[in-house]
Amino acid sequence: DKDGHKHFMAKEIAEQPTAINRALAAYLDQNNQITLPEELDFTKVERLTLVACGTGYYACLAAKYWFEQIARMPVEVDVASEFRYREPPISAGTLAVFVSQSGETADTLAALRYCAGKAQQIAGLVNVPESSIARESDVVLPIHAGPEISVASTKAFTCQLVILLLMALKAAAQRGQPLPADLPEDLRSLPGLLHQVIAGEEQVTAVSRELAKAQDIIFLGRGHLYPLALEGALKLKELSYIHAEGYASGELKHGPIALIDETVPVVVIAPSDALFDKTVSNMQEVMARGGKVILVTDAKGAELASEGVAETLVLPHVNSVLTPILYAVPAQQIAYFTAIAKGTDVDQPRNLAKSVTVE
Ligand code: M6R
Repeated sequence: DKDGHKHFMAKEIAEQPTAINRALAAYLDQNNQITLPEELDFTKVERLTLVACGTGYYACLAAKYWFEQIARMPVEVDVASEFRYREPPISAGTLAVFVSQSGETADTLAALRYCAGKAQQIAGLVNVPESSIARESDVVLPIHAGPEISVASTKAFTCQLVILLLMALKAAAQRGQPLPADLPEDLRSLPGLLHQVIAGEEQVTAVSRELAKAQDIIFLGRGHLYPLALEGALKLKELSYIHAEGYASGELKHGPIALIDETVPVVVIAPSDALFDKTVSNMQEVMARGGKVILVTDAKGAELASEGVAETLVLPHVNSVLTPILYAVPAQQIAYFTAIAKGTDVDQPRNLAKSVTVE
């Protein structure tokens, strides 16, 4: 049941505030104490290994920034299909975390089995609690997104991010690291902010009609928004069949800038945070070569850097730690409305399956 929406994807984008509230209810008590399963003891963990496929992998990449910066822990992130055949040495103090919406992805399950008996502990972040990955994990963290039907992952991604962030905050607290200002309290404001962005979807529809004419689209982001550039590009190619690539903004001049001309739109994901000026200077390099920039930022960013930009999507201000979660919504909306403009099958893109249970 699409609940009055045209597609399951639209319904699932709209459900994100509720889904995140459910995840917070499960893992954050009324006094803002993080209530993860007790077996998760980060004081005993020497390093983290995060493994997943597709969108889950990008959630892990964003979490790497959080675990390193907030909890000061060494973190390795890998796609499951590479990890399993590389046979990496797993040190005894490793917490291995497997992130999977379905809990049935063949490569992720094989990677988990490789770690069994080698890692100190195996944690599974799944949306389907009775899945194989859940069954074979020492600790299971259901993400509480609710059933996700559309092939393109949306609410599972934002719920994965919320729980990975709670894990990083818990790890910081247990390891005597200071928590970032106003966290975890500010997580409470996220559902309302997501709701605002979802309600403001019409600012994306005009942008998407333009994007639908392009052959190639580039997404740029820096710091913990770099994984979101990758996710934005994946979502767009998956749904609209337009070739899209995500890059770390600083990598632009190491190759991709050769692609830029007036036919290549560049989506720049840049809230006004500590790295804003750096990303803006990359954006100006794009504009100097005729590239059409779509800037995704907040009101302050728009005021500082909209000059010469083709379109600006303005999001509400949010604690900078939380930007990967809030900025996931415009990335989803861009893919969704571009697919609508192209007339592709949004919920069932060609060649794709919801759950990849074979290699
Ligand atoms: O069920 P999983 O989270 O293990 O699935 C992993 C990927 O197959 C999945 O995220 C895929 O990339 C999505 N179609 C992305 O929208």
